[in-house]
Amino acid sequence: MAKTRVRTELRFMLNGGDVALSDVGPDETLLDYLRLRRALRGTKEGCAEGDCGACTVLVGKLSSGKLVYESVNACIRFMGSLDGCHVVTVEHLRGEGGKLHPVQQAMVDFHGSQCGFCTPGFVMSLYALWMRSPEPAVAAIEKALQGNLCRCTGYEAIVRAAKAISTYGQVAKDPLAVERKHMIARLTGLRDGARVEIGEGKRRFIVPADVDDFAAVLDKEPAATIVAGSTDVGLWVTKHMRDISPAVFIGGLDGLRGISEEKGVVTIGAGVTYTEAFSTLAKRIPALGPLFDRIGGEQVRNMGTIGGNIANGSPIGDTPPPLIALGATLTLRKGKKRRTIPLEEFFIAYGKQDRKPGEFVEAVHVPLPAKGARFAVHKVTKRRDEDITATLGAFHLALAKDGTVASIRIAYGGMAATPKRAKAVEAALAGKPWTEATIEAAISVYDADFTPLTDMRATAEYRALAAKNLLRRFFAETSGEQVATVTRQEAA
Ligand SMILES: Cc1cc2nc3c(=O)[nH]c(=O)nc-3n(C[C@H](O)[C@H](O)[C@H](O)COP(=O)(O)OP(=O)(O)OC[C@H]3O[C@@H](n4cnc5c(N)ncnc54)[C@H](O)[C@@H]3O)c2cc1C
Ligand code: FES
Ligand code: FES
Repeated sequence: MAKTRVRTELRFMLNGGDVALSDVGPDETLLDYLRLRRALRGTKEGCAEGDCGACTVLVGKLSSGKLVYESVNACIRFMGSLDGCHVVTVEHLRGEGGKLHPVQQAMVDFHGSQCGFCTPGFVMSLYALWMRSPEPAVAAIEKALQGNLCRCTGYEAIVRAAKAISTYGQVAKDPLAVERKHMIARLTGLRDGARVEIGEGKRRFIVPADVDDFAAVLDKEPAATIVAGSTDVGLWVTKHMRDISPAVFIGGLDGLRGISEEKGVVTIGAGVTYTEAFSTLAKRIPALGPLFDRIGGEQVRNMGTIGGNIANGSPIGDTPPPLIALGATLTLRKGKKRRTIPLEEFFIAYGKQDRKPGEFVEAVHVPLPAKGARFAVHKVTKRRDEDITATLGAFHLALAKDGTVASIRIAYGGMAATPKRAKAVEAALAGKPWTEATIEAAISVYDADFTPLTDMRATAEYRALAAKNLLRRFFAETSGEQVATVTRQEAA
């Protein structure tokens, strides 16, 4: 086997220039690099945890020969994840003839800025939206801005500005559009197929050359911290000052970013982000669309991966319960060896998953619901957007011709130490007629499945009641009843 070439410098592009760095640590964030080392202070620090969007920048990455620019949170994005990327900060924005950029001018004219602290972040999120959708609807604007907080303007002015951007300029004339071909060539030139290894001791990280190289690296260094989108790991550093060295950055590995469908099963690589998975999964399993829309803000969805959401083992991760209800399986890999297990078996206890030293999550396989089957997922939070689950229920039902329950899988998040199936409730429903009386009888066995906790998100009583009500809601929906849901437009 050919020996992997090793490079000891990180290479990427920042605005118009090339960057090559060898003095960079595994826990250095893009935000610190921009502000402290490059004096690019238009990018602000608000929360340092991916919530406020003040640190929003664009990261352009090559994907199947295309260059895609996405908004990301620089505060929880590590430098090691940027190899081969193009970072665009607010300082790079410019309009024709030295004028303000269309996004900036619209924000000025529509009074989208008051104290101005949040403004660069809003401008960057709107810039990303405008480039992919020059005439966005209000719902799309609100979705793009879910991850940006403003304490002054009340948002109305910003939404008006967003609607008007195209009256100030054309996307085709934007520098990132004009220079795209040239930029693709430059970024392609940075891809030399080498593994990046930087630093030593407590300041060491590795960017594997490809998935096989990642498997080899992890086999040799099983205690290394795997970093995919860093939307969890970022906070270990910024909030808990944890040591993540040696870190292995896998977010750029194309071999983990595939989505494919075969014989009714969708396979999603562990490195696929929410944004990348959205179009395929939401099309094939429509109930997942609204759920994905409520995971973090756009910046988090552009970075966070489904593999990371599973691997972190959190009892309140949003994707495991629906995937368990759908009967998903998980492929784990160590070196060249692979094993595939039912997803639910991966979660052993709080903080304990069925992942051996040196093993990593390679892919999740999601069977599509059979024709006529009903599938729903409902997330209960204090706030609609940008909030972590208190309780989440996922329901997957197939009825027999006579109206009895042929099969049902129910899984919850936020109800136990792990994402968990409601097996006693499922047993109480199996084979019974799908009627209100059956549902109410099954609800009486909920306590055999779950003893939820009280925490800052909800009390145990609230969780228990909400979980039962979600089953009642699923019954209502599957019985032809209209269940009112407040949509983004109605709420506005
Ligand atoms: C502002 C904000 C809002 C959020 N909102 C939500 C929300 O609404 N719902 C929700 O569920 N989550 C939410 N999260 C949490 C987070 O976005 C998700 O858990 C995300 O899916 C994690 O993926 P990642 O790629 O960023 O993982 P990382 O942070 O890179 O890694 C997470 C964990 O998984 C491990 N890991 C990653 N990939 C692999 C792999 N392939 N094999 C083995 N181990 C691996 C890492 O070592 C680490 O332990 C939010 C986070 C933030 C910052
Ligand atoms: S500083 Fe708040 S999201 Fe980054
Ligand atoms: S203008 Fe002050 S925080 Fe948004």
